[in-house]
Amino acid sequence: MDDKLLYEKLDSLSVQEKIGQLVQLTGDFFEGDIDTVVTGPLKKLGLNPSYNIYNTGSILNVTDPEKMIRLQTKYLEHSAHQIPLLFMADIIYGYRTIFPIPLAQACSWNFEQIERAAAISARECYEEGTHVTFSPMVDIVRDPRWGRVMESPGEDTLLARKYAESTVAGIQGRKTRSGAVPADKIAACVKHFAAYGAPVAGREYNAVDMSEHTLREYYLPGYQAAIEAGAKLVMTAFNTLNGIPATGNEWLNRDVLRREMNFDGVLISDYAAIEELIMHGYAEDEAAAAKLALLAGVDVDMKTAVYANQLEKIISGNEHMLELLNEAVYRVLKLKNDLGLFEDPFRGLQETVRRGSSSILADEHKQAALSLAEESVVLLKNEHELLPLSPQTKIALIGPYAEENSTLGIWAIKGNEADTINLKTGLLKHADPARLSVCRGAYMVPLDEREALGKYADKLPAETVGEEELLEEAIRNADEADVIVLALGESIYQSGEGGSRTNPALPEPQLKLLRELSGLGKPLAVIVYSGRPLILTEVAEKADALIQAWYPGTMGGEALANILYGKANPSGKLTMTFPRCVGQIPVHYNELNTGRPNLPENGSYRFASRYIDEANEPLYPFGYGKSYTSFAYSLLSVSRKEMKRNEPIEFSVAVSNTGSYDGKETVQLYIRDKFASVARPVKVLKDFQKIFLRSGETGTVQFTIREEMLKFYGSNMEYKSEPGEFEVYIGPSSQDISLSFSFVLLPEEEHE
Ligand code: IFM
Repeated sequence: MDDKLLYEKLDSLSVQEKIGQLVQLTGDFFEGDIDTVVTGPLKKLGLNPSYNIYNTGSILNVTDPEKMIRLQTKYLEHSAHQIPLLFMADIIYGYRTIFPIPLAQACSWNFEQIERAAAISARECYEEGTHVTFSPMVDIVRDPRWGRVMESPGEDTLLARKYAESTVAGIQGRKTRSGAVPADKIAACVKHFAAYGAPVAGREYNAVDMSEHTLREYYLPGYQAAIEAGAKLVMTAFNTLNGIPATGNEWLNRDVLRREMNFDGVLISDYAAIEELIMHGYAEDEAAAAKLALLAGVDVDMKTAVYANQLEKIISGNEHMLELLNEAVYRVLKLKNDLGLFEDPFRGLQETVRRGSSSILADEHKQAALSLAEESVVLLKNEHELLPLSPQTKIALIGPYAEENSTLGIWAIKGNEADTINLKTGLLKHADPARLSVCRGAYMVPLDEREALGKYADKLPAETVGEEELLEEAIRNADEADVIVLALGESIYQSGEGGSRTNPALPEPQLKLLRELSGLGKPLAVIVYSGRPLILTEVAEKADALIQAWYPGTMGGEALANILYGKANPSGKLTMTFPRCVGQIPVHYNELNTGRPNLPENGSYRFASRYIDEANEPLYPFGYGKSYTSFAYSLLSVSRKEMKRNEPIEFSVAVSNTGSYDGKETVQLYIRDKFASVARPVKVLKDFQKIFLRSGETGTVQFTIREEMLKFYGSNMEYKSEPGEFEVYIGPSSQDISLSFSFVLLPEEEHE
């Protein structure tokens, strides 16, 4: 449909019909006949009984194909203007083929594979009827106490931008001139605008207090990249930003998002976030909340009755508000049109039903999940080259994750644990069953910590065997083995939304198990499953080898087994810093220098920026991750050391695989702006390249430093570079700098 027709459609709607397009409900509203809906879900949500559910614009988290066909058919039978429903859902890192959680994916630093994963998720969604996914989430995170760090690509802005670009490209396809979303693709919704990843003290939904400089420099570019890649939707955040709730924040959503960032798609509230403007103490009542949200440019009200009940009064006699309503409705209609719903309200769905099959869990999808899982895993320690293991090794596989299928993470809403390869199943693809013993050793979540998990407590296994018995069995098994592989971690229900923890560590019974087993003096490889960086200081001391597995998805057990046996060589690098202790949080690599940095030569000089009871350095820094092989770097050539604005510096680095395994290395390029009108971080990641090298092989990576990479927000929020000296650091992690050189950006007058 062309734009003219779309506007005609808009004009043909009554005010109530227009408002309906801005309302998002769950599927239960369309079950049964009108009478039961009116007395049931409508009443529960507080919707006016006069509200016509057949005006509703979209449906949240209904993903059952048959139900979707039923709902769409029934809806269209009642819809006077034949405007199809939109189905939106949280398909965050996989539909049925579940990929590693986003934090893990980013640790692969392999954005081609990440794009492919997003494309597979989109394809499975398309075939099963979902039109919009609430992904990517690109909130920058620096505090592992917050449960939702698992959904973020981590602490770095460049990686957030890359993650945004590749996931939007995978979900929606490359941006097209017409805006049409091609078959096999669905619409992407970047979230949570803005700065949801920085709640005070890591407590879920807590206030966010940050300078405009920090917001612009670190937090906004990820969302901006998604918008530039064409993301059709943006979701608001639950939090306040400097006192003003993001969902009612006109400056944020109209000035910054719409005008500066050029976003012309649909802005949807997070779940009930418009209604929550009242709880925030920002809106007096629902009418005020509706008005503030519409003024702020929020188009769709997710799952509350606020827009449905209040907008009509607000619009009545108010031309400006009517104009805002029309704009919002147009954007929703445009989204439906871009998805081709007016031509085919079922998109890929009917075709799937007609064919009776889909590509869900196809071999190539599982292969992609396997490959990304292998690259997402991070090897943190490998003393005496304990890993890889030989197939002859007698292994005691112990721990709550030894045979656990619940390794998909909390947002895998369509993921099925029955499809999942757990660690034991993965190991049995390599190991002789007679050389593998398996036991749990400890509860995943101590009994007295379960209640706090709320509705998820019931999903944990009922424990029938006592903890002492589990421990004794573990020690018996370990005694008979050559190597202990200890699979520990937090439950998937301890991370994710509402999963903030003051002490993000392994539960005490698991630490007790670790202490007992390490006391046996056997080689000990520990695998940690988690949705966040845990405090692993004691674990790292006791383990000979340490692997961060995250929640690795459907193929996780096979990926880990391939790594344990050396069929795959680990290449993941952390995208979020691992603190030594809770007191260091928030800790991130791109910090400022302070006026009194803690220099090694100053010893325990009192008045330096340091702790008196702990090192400043984290346990594992950003960018860190080991391989079974080793790499050596040397600088080959630097094109110039004096740079003009439009004359980039080019240089190349030779990287040699000096070990005995083939492997991949991520070469990282950091820059420090030595003196500027605003203090600049000690280093900022500006580029990276991941290369594969056979054992003994040397490869070359080329980098280009452009003036654009030297820009930052000045004190008046102008985005610019400043002439002066810069240092360049190249290395395998943010703390391990193999090569460096400096250059000067010449002042404008010296450019000729
Ligand atoms: O997409 C999510 C969001 O990230 C958190 N609140 C609920 C939304 C829809 O389910």
